[in-house]
Amino acid sequence: MTIRALTSIEALREAEPAITGKRSILSTLQRSLGSLEPSVRRDAGAELQDARRVIEEALEARRGELANAARSQALAADRLELGDVVVQNVRCPVDAGHPSLIASTQRHLEDVFVAMGFRVSEGPEVESDWYNFEALNIPPAHPARGLWDTFYVELGEPETVVLRTHTSPTQIHLMESAVRTNSLPVHAVMPGRCYRRDTPDARHLATFHQIEGLVVDRGITFADLAGVIETFTQAFFGPDISSRLRPGFFPFTEPSAEFEITCTICHGEGCRTCSQTGWIELGGCGMLDPAVLAAVGIDAEVWSGFAFGFGIDRCAQMRHQISDMRALIENDVRFLRQFS
Ligand code: DAH
Repeated sequence: MTIRALTSIEALREAEPAITGKRSILSTLQRSLGSLEPSVRRDAGAELQDARRVIEEALEARRGELANAARSQALAADRLELGDVVVQNVRCPVDAGHPSLIASTQRHLEDVFVAMGFRVSEGPEVESDWYNFEALNIPPAHPARGLWDTFYVELGEPETVVLRTHTSPTQIHLMESAVRTNSLPVHAVMPGRCYRRDTPDARHLATFHQIEGLVVDRGITFADLAGVIETFTQAFFGPDISSRLRPGFFPFTEPSAEFEITCTICHGEGCRTCSQTGWIELGGCGMLDPAVLAAVGIDAEVWSGFAFGFGIDRCAQMRHQISDMRALIENDVRFLRQFS
């Protein structure tokens, strides 16, 4: 019998006593060495010892081979093949919910502007009076500063702190950092949460969302602004909705415009939602006022630009024809599941 003929660990274990054990021929021969002539005993002993070593090594090697083979076999038996497992009627044990429509609208708006070459930036929700009003050229007597319009966190000394009433202060942060890091031009949109002391109704929320746009570059004109607004409108609302700009006033842009889109309910025919005008106001925009550029240390002789800002919640409402804006923050999954 050869060691190779042993094809399992068990067979090897059983055969081992007969090969090297106490009753094996090898051991018997080794025990009989004592009866040999002393002149041959040493050589014979050494040869038997060598033979035992070779046999034991061969057994050990075979044991290793057989153990490896057994392991591979066990692995092969454990492997799952396609179709081995069938999962039936598994339901998620918790109700996984649904993204908020405000969050998905914000992401969609960001995608549209990123595709147009804008980057996305964010600013703080708690601002000093300087960022929220002063740097934006909003004078102390402006109605937006009234106690009934703004949530004041800190009044007066050492400084007035407010929950931002719009995303426009992020323009100031962005321009300041572009000046500091010498990285003009800027093409950015800045989405985020804003706060006003509004009583919630079908069209207003006290906590709402805006997206601000800012371009500072060389040779920017009003036509660039109008082109960006129109391109955005069609990309977000669809090709049958367009935009128009009406003269308006904002302290930080000159000239300023109100930005309106075709009413998404009546498609311009005139209805109750658009007060029979066929248009819905979405936000404001205009060319950067040189006083604002000066406030952040940008040379208005070299750089020009435009800004715009509008409501994300309003966009969601118009795109999905939601009659009451409060549904956006109630987070009722039955409402949210309508929007994939
Ligand atoms: N911040 C203004 C608001 O909340 C909207 C706005 C108007 C933003 C004109 C702008 C702009 O960037 O240029 O009513």
